[in-house]
Amino acid sequence: MENVFYMDHPLIQHKISMLRDKRTGTNEFRKLVEEIAVLMGYEAFRDLPVEPVEIETPMETCMSPMISGKKLAVVPILRAGLGMVNGILTLVPSAKVGHIGLCRNHETHEPEEYYCKLPSPIEERTIAALDPMLATGGSAEAAVNFIKEHGGKHIKFLCIIAAPEGVERLHKAHPDVQIYCGCLDRCLNEDAYICPGLGDAGDRIFGTK
Ligand code: PRP
Ligand code: URA
Repeated sequence: MENVFYMDHPLIQHKISMLRDKRTGTNEFRKLVEEIAVLMGYEAFRDLPVEPVEIETPMETCMSPMISGKKLAVVPILRAGLGMVNGILTLVPSAKVGHIGLCRNHETHEPEEYYCKLPSPIEERTIAALDPMLATGGSAEAAVNFIKEHGGKHIKFLCIIAAPEGVERLHKAHPDVQIYCGCLDRCLNEDAYICPGLGDAGDRIFGTK
């Protein structure tokens, strides 16, 4: 599938396995989510545009590449996406940060919006939307709809674990969005949880139940 990228790096795979383990507590879970975000960001930002800039080294002046264009926008989908923000900011400290608050309705499994704010202007920025879990794809589709309604064009969606149903829904709704996925799992269960998955990402990051 064009624009869908699966991470095969052993460090990412190893850390995802630790994340899945039900014995992994909140503190370690948070650290792992952040570390995985760093590694996934490194892969996902491979195609950021660069331009030659004049730099004076202690030896001489040279032209050397630097990232060009407007600052990146990082947009976590609340709550669980927050766990990935610091990992991405480690790579791109000057990025602007927006927020999209969505919560799945427990009966319909469809997302309900409760808070959204994006950096402005957003049109020319590369936007990294973050959510550890891509399950039915409802939240991701709604988040990308919102970003596009506000003028966002260059969108990357980073998720740590995805179900095939979610990848298909997001790709079908937004084929232009680049989807970066740490691991593709088997399926969704009847409650629309990813299997084998890792359980409820928000609860595990924030220690709630
Ligand atoms: C989880 C997860 C995603 C969404 C994925 O959030 O973090 O946002 O579900 O499911 P979907 O692909 O079927 O839409 P949740 O709604 O549980 O909210 P939370 O992060 O506040 O716990
Ligand atoms: N949200 C989660 O946190 N986990 C899942 O498996 C599905 C949606």
